[in-house]
Amino acid sequence: MKKVLICYDSRTGSTEKMANFIAEGVRIGGCEAELLKISQVKSEKDLAGFDGYIFGCPTYHRDMTGGMKTFLFLGDKAGLAGKAGAAFGSYTHSGDAPGIIFDTMEHVFKMKMISLGSFNLLEHLVTTNEGVRSCQDYGRALSEELNRP
Ligand SMILES: Cc1cc2nc3c(=O)[nH]c(=O)nc-3n(C[C@H](O)[C@H](O)[C@H](O)COP(=O)(O)O)c2cc1C
Repeated sequence: MKKVLICYDSRTGSTEKMANFIAEGVRIGGCEAELLKISQVKSEKDLAGFDGYIFGCPTYHRDMTGGMKTFLFLGDKAGLAGKAGAAFGSYTHSGDAPGIIFDTMEHVFKMKMISLGSFNLLEHLVTTNEGVRSCQDYGRALSEELNRP
């Protein structure tokens, strides 16, 4: 079974909730899912051994968090070229972070990015049925792309 690592940052918990719902979707799609907060990732070796990577970050000040920037410098050393990738985050009005992270994964890390693009979810929708389902659908889509022959 293919394995997907979900790494995320979250100050107030909304992006963390998304990460858990996306993990459910990955599993529904037939892959294993592992979750890590970026603070738990100490070296690029912690990123080794997965077929797909989903990075999550909320938008603060129209940007990703400082922690996520540091994490991406570490990701650059992890040799992720050709691996499946996706990016998501919670937001209230501009939602910049997932798109910037998605671009870095695609153009700098040379990953094979999910055809759906990056995934932004309004904070007030995260725990609604619609929000939970859209997170699950996003995770499932990456899983299905990975399992496609
Ligand atoms: C100081 C501050 C700045 C923020 N800046 C933005 C922003 O520029 N764009 C945006 O869409 N949301 C912004 N937000 C809203 C957060 O992205 C939103 O609350 C998000 O759900 C937080 O996710 P988290 O719970 O995973 O930390 C800001 C929130 C705070 C408190």
